Amino acid sequence: MPICSRRPGPPAPRAPRHAPSGRGDGGKGAPVKTILVTGANRGIGRLAAAELLRRGDRVILTARNPDRAAALRSELSAEIASGRAQVRPLDLASFASVRGLSAELIADGERLDAIVHNAGTLSPPPVRTITEDGIEQTLQIHAVAPWLLSTLLLPALARPSRLVFLGSSLHLPNSRGVPVRFSFDDPFLVEGYHPERAYKNAKLAQLWVVREWERRHGAEGVHADDLCPGFVPITASANTRGFMRVLLRRVMPIMPFATSPQAAARLEADWAERDPTIPGGAYFDGGTPTQPSEDARDDDTARSFWALLEAWAPV
Ligand SMILES: NC(=O)c1ccc[n+]([C@@H]2O[C@H](COP(=O)([O-])OP(=O)(O)OC[C@H]3O[C@@H](n4cnc5c(N)ncnc54)[C@H](OP(=O)(O)O)[C@@H]3O)[C@@H](O)[C@H]2O)c1
Repeated sequence: MPICSRRPGPPAPRAPRHAPSGRGDGGKGAPVKTILVTGANRGIGRLAAAELLRRGDRVILTARNPDRAAALRSELSAEIASGRAQVRPLDLASFASVRGLSAELIADGERLDAIVHNAGTLSPPPVRTITEDGIEQTLQIHAVAPWLLSTLLLPALARPSRLVFLGSSLHLPNSRGVPVRFSFDDPFLVEGYHPERAYKNAKLAQLWVVREWERRHGAEGVHADDLCPGFVPITASANTRGFMRVLLRRVMPIMPFATSPQAAARLEADWAERDPTIPGGAYFDGGTPTQPSEDARDDDTARSFWALLEAWAPV
């Protein structure tokens, strides 16, 4: 069960809505930002996409399941007809799907102001699962595929722009449950697989991606941040059953440490719109700048993980 220690704080500084980006029609209420949100068919991502649309942004929503994508298209038919929304397929458990989406967006001449790497599996499989690309599934969905998507979309990213990764304080070594333990000798957890560990390791790996991304691409204006949205029990309950489901849906939401899906979505939208000139490479727990774990702050480890990414998913 994912959790962040802090509930959402004050909103992030936003760029002026009519920034001199050369896009939009420049008129009152014209959309300035084009924002890609992954895993936007349900949960926090769906609400964040709705919030961004409400604020006047142009949003590209992705969904991995064709039926859910079709349902989303019909929900958003008015926004799609006006060109303010698009629904595109994306399954992060498949590099072919990642490559397909990025090729399409580049061919269509899209210019992205932000990518929100929201998609995730809050309940990783009980048994270790390897994707068609040979990577442990949870690590691929949260860290490897988002890195590949961002890298392939570099030519489509505006300067300045921002990547927002949805992280979790569960990457911390003292978080409750099965401890985080990422080994470069066994990144796919042949030994000691547990769904909680897979999730925590993936969120730690995401922080390395953010750190090394900022070091490599921050100077050219493509910044990356890691944002823990708060503990959102309602969306975290999606793939749970029985007692855990009742706990997450009925009891946890009224606890003082819980965050509502709407508040988490507003935070996600704030970060997508955050002034893109502000340097990144930071971790925000509930929107508050926070030190990630010591492992997550290690530059050499971040570089080593980047080398693995390049080997696993050659660009
Ligand atoms: N909820 C929390 O308390 C909490 C706390 C900290 C961090 N987070 C992070 O916040 C993000 C959103 O969480 P949430 O609570 O909104 O989750 P959610 O309700 O379970 O939604 C997850 C979304 O990700 C999509 N997804 C899952 N696997 C995918 C794949 N292989 N390829 C593409 N999309 C995939 C899902 O699509 P389908 O509908 O097809 O499954 C769904 O749209 C996640 O990254 C999560 O780790 C959540």
